[in-house]
Amino acid sequence: MNNRYAVILAAGKGTRMKSKTYKVLHEVGHKAMVERVIDTAKQLNFSKIVTVVGFGAEEVKERLQDKSDFVLQEEQLGTGHAVLQASPLLADLKGTTIVLYGDTPMIKAETIEAMLRKHEEEKAKVTVLTANLSDPYGYGRILRDSKGQLEDVVEEKDATSEQKKIQEINTGIYAFDNEVLFEALTKVTRDNAQGEYYLPDVINIVKEEGGIVTTYQTEDSDEILGVNDRQALAKVNRLFYDRMTAYWMDQGVEFMDPKTVYIDDDVQIGPDTVIENNVQLLGHTIIGEDVFIGANSIIRDSKLGDRVEIFSSVIEESEIGEESNIGPMSHLRPNAKLGKGVHVGNFVEVKNATLGDYTKAGHLAYVGDADLGTHINVSAGVIFANYDGYHKARSAVGDHAFIGSNANVIAPMNISAYSFVAAGSTVYQDIPERAMGIARARQVNKEGYWDKLAVSKNPEHLKEDKDNG
Ligand code: UD1
Ligand code: CA
Repeated sequence: MNNRYAVILAAGKGTRMKSKTYKVLHEVGHKAMVERVIDTAKQLNFSKIVTVVGFGAEEVKERLQDKSDFVLQEEQLGTGHAVLQASPLLADLKGTTIVLYGDTPMIKAETIEAMLRKHEEEKAKVTVLTANLSDPYGYGRILRDSKGQLEDVVEEKDATSEQKKIQEINTGIYAFDNEVLFEALTKVTRDNAQGEYYLPDVINIVKEEGGIVTTYQTEDSDEILGVNDRQALAKVNRLFYDRMTAYWMDQGVEFMDPKTVYIDDDVQIGPDTVIENNVQLLGHTIIGEDVFIGANSIIRDSKLGDRVEIFSSVIEESEIGEESNIGPMSHLRPNAKLGKGVHVGNFVEVKNATLGDYTKAGHLAYVGDADLGTHINVSAGVIFANYDGYHKARSAVGDHAFIGSNANVIAPMNISAYSFVAAGSTVYQDIPERAMGIARARQVNKEGYWDKLAVSKNPEHLKEDKDNG
């Protein structure tokens, strides 16, 4: 901990989002923008983080829980007014305060750190983070004197046509001497085109009192992108996922088409893993080395061992042991636990079930609420019926058991090791070791059935058959 504080402005309504969701709760990389900013701030070990809430205050607090302290700005009277609301929590403290925005989620901890270092080295009272933009429209412009020193910030709406040509902009991120900031804020007025209390007015007030004001410029203008509408939200999400794939490529992960891959920030991936197109890796997902993730797979909150192969499948809250392969078109639902070398094939659904090492369920099966041992064969079309409309029950299958095609296993059921379930059986009584459970009607062949039924009902039938060759 150090004497550094962060104030995060998040009171705005976000009218241009045209949304029921408050602006700062819109997500970038599946995390609310304001939460992302706070998590970045957390990397810098601030001794206090204060979020200024207004519109949607309850929802924002609910989302952030104890990640931040909160102050309420009841009326949105401008950025200066917003920071002033933090005064009861911060005004008396010695140290440095950083101001960040809840709708500017791509800001990097390294950039804030570099700005803080310059601020402290130059013993500045105010340091403004600036950036050069080819299209500076809408931003406050940085005014410099003949020596290149920071003179002032002028808002778009207050700027002359000459000033509007300036491409260096105020990112809205600052470092302040904390006591100087709250002292100066009491002197800010609403004397401007928008009738708002402008935070950048602090610059002039501090300068007049002889304090050093300076700037730090970031090279990466992407990180200061603010989100005001859905187009900007999509752009920032794009940037976020580009950052993620670039990072994983540097760690030795291979992508067929990285632009189409979406990796959340709490995902881990081992080297030499290959990821095809249209893949989403979400939540807390851990992926081993030399894994193959085929096109159109979605994996959330799951753990995959080394050399696992996934073909076009959906995997949620599940674990897959090394060298197992899944899909195409399989669905592992929450709490599927697969051992080593397991094969779950085409159109198989597994839920709340364990499949031991080398067990196979190759085609069109449902394995739910069951514990399967090792080396078991689950043939095509097997269903573990686990629900009677009121209760769920579990079944167990011992090692090396063989469950024939199209069997229904009605839980609760115990199929012992080295036993068989005959194809087409609906079994509900436990099967002992080395036995076969068979539960299906015997086959009867009715001789001459074609002539008796089909032809008698449609005498033309045989003739047509002949005509068609
Ligand atoms: C502000 C800066 C401008 C800078 C730009 C960078 C001022 C006067 N201008 O302009 O120089 O280039 O940011 O993006 O500061 N907010 C509150 N309460 C308020 C007003 C705003 O919490 O009363 C929050 C908003 O929710 C938003 C942030 O502060 O997250 C910025 O407010 P906004 O009105 O978008 O500022 P700009 O007009 O863009
Ligand atoms: Ca504004």
